This record gives sequence, C-alpha cells and structure tokens, in this order.
Amino acid sequence: MPITPTPKIWMNGSLIDWDAAQVHVLTHTLHYWMGVFEGIRAYETAEGPGIFRLTEHIERLHNSAKILMMDLPYSVEELIDATKAVVVASGLPSCYIRPIAYYGYGEMGLNTLPCTVDVAIACWPWGAYLGDDALSKGVRMKISSWTRHDHNTMPPASKTTGNYVNSSLAKVEALKAGYDEAIMLNKHGLVSECTGENIFVSRGGKLISPPLSAGALEGITQSSVMTIARDLGFETALGDLARSDLYIAEEMFVCGTAAEVSAVNSVDDRAIPCPGPMTKAIGEEYGKAVRGQVDRYKDWVEHAV
Ligand SMILES: Cc1ncc(COP(=O)(O)O)c(C=O)c1O
Repeated sequence: MPITPTPKIWMNGSLIDWDAAQVHVLTHTLHYWMGVFEGIRAYETAEGPGIFRLTEHIERLHNSAKILMMDLPYSVEELIDATKAVVVASGLPSCYIRPIAYYGYGEMGLNTLPCTVDVAIACWPWGAYLGDDALSKGVRMKISSWTRHDHNTMPPASKTTGNYVNSSLAKVEALKAGYDEAIMLNKHGLVSECTGENIFVSRGGKLISPPLSAGALEGITQSSVMTIARDLGFETALGDLARSDLYIAEEMFVCGTAAEVSAVNSVDDRAIPCPGPMTKAIGEEYGKAVRGQVDRYKDWVEHAV
C-alpha cells in the first residue's frame, strides 16, 4: 500500500518536514539490517487520537535495542513524548506510527560499537493490513517453506529490521501462490507465528497461541487479546501447536497492530469455520477497546494531547 505523506517526521530530536527526513546511501543499517522498530496505531476517540499501548511499544523498542547492544540516545519517556508530537503534527484523527532506531552514516563494517544511533518516528494513514473484511470473511493462509529464525540466529524477542528478511521471503511466497499470508514453523517443526502477526488456534474449545520460546514476537495485541478473551469467559493459553493442529482447528485468527484481529478461513486449503464465535466476539471487543470504548481497557489508550 503506497505511503501517504504527512507534514512532519521526528528525527533525532526535532520535528522536520516529511521530505527532509532522508538518509545517506552508506547508512550502516541499510547494509547490515541492524535496526529496531515498532508498529503502533493511533485510533480516533472522542478525546482526539488515542495511541494504543504506546508505553509498552516504546518499552519493547528499548528492549529490542538492548538485545542488539544498541544504546538508544532517548529514554522511554522522551520517545513517548516524541511519538505524541508526531501524531499531533500530522493532524490525523487516526494513523499508523513507525518509530525506528538505526545505525547511521559514518562507519562501515560489522562492528556496530563505534556507530552512531539515529532515531526517527513517522506516522501516516494506514487501513487494515489484511483487508477491511478480514474479521468477517477471513484470510487464506499457507504454511511457509521458510523456517522461522531462531533464538540463537536472529533473536525473535527483538523487533529487528533484519528479522523481516525471513518474514518477507515467506510473505511473497504466500502471495505468489495465491494466499493472503504465511504461517511460519520453527526449526522443530512447531507453529511459530505469521510474518507480521501472532496466531491463535482453537482446539477443544481453548484458544492457544505460540509463545516467544516457539520463535514468536511477544505481541502487544496477543497480550491484549488474551486479556479480552479471558474477560469474555474464553479459555486461552500460550502453548505449542503442531502443523496438524492448524488443519483441524475449530477456529483460528491472527492478530497484530497492523492486522488487528483477522479471522482465518483456511490453512493449506483445509477450510476452517470462519469467523468462529470466539474470533468474532474477541475481534469486536478489540475494535472497541482500541478506540477507548471499553471502560476496563481505557488505560491501554494514551492520548496524544
Ligand atoms: C513478526 C511479528 N509477530 C507478531 C506481531 C504482532 O505484534 P504486535 O501485536 O505487538 O503488533 C508483529 C507486529 O509487530 C510482528 O511483526
């Protein structure tokens, strides 16, 4: 989906014009993919744009950087303020927000210790990642031929730019084969996650989602969904899933900041009941929660002003 420019991008401490936010072709991270980023959404609320779980996203950015031994030059509080400033400057009621920290221009070679760390935060309008009707009609999934990267190769706990080479290989493979999205298995053959979403599978009436140990990112939507599911009276747990669990699932959905809650209608051409009753109820409640419309989840929504 093409990007729609907004007035300002926050770069290294200042709000600058969108077109001025440029990097040199010899920027370190462009060559070696050692950068960390976040994907965050702000939703329209009665009190202006509400940023969903902003603090948790910025804390995860800091943790991602720590795993890479990258020293972020801005505190969590400074990056929260900067994110709010970008959203306000955009004038948008809702948007997708992309903070990124990367090694900048000046050094080359694989030793990152002497490199400068640059940080930028942009936002722009972005609709539902897997389609507007993904909750009602569902998406077609394919199990990827690509194996999810592992803790001792590319740590999945860090939302590192380089990790997404693995995701993009799987995504393009799935799209070219006529599917909407890929499910990735880890090196043990167990289900890990999708290219940009966590996965929930119902077996025996219980919703199971693979944990970090299976190679999945610890999704902020995954954790929100588990809370919502329990509050709605559904049983849910983190746990391992085999490929065959997917084929005979009673219902299934994927979730993430970009994709929100998207139902799954088939995996490798095996039909899954869609949308299942738990998927529908959780997806609808999530849609209200992110917009600050559910009292018990109001703390999840951080207002830009
Ligand atoms: C690989 C991967 N898994 C899961 C997720 C879902 O994470 P979150 O809910 O924090 O957006 C994302 C999105 O950031 C992702 O890129």
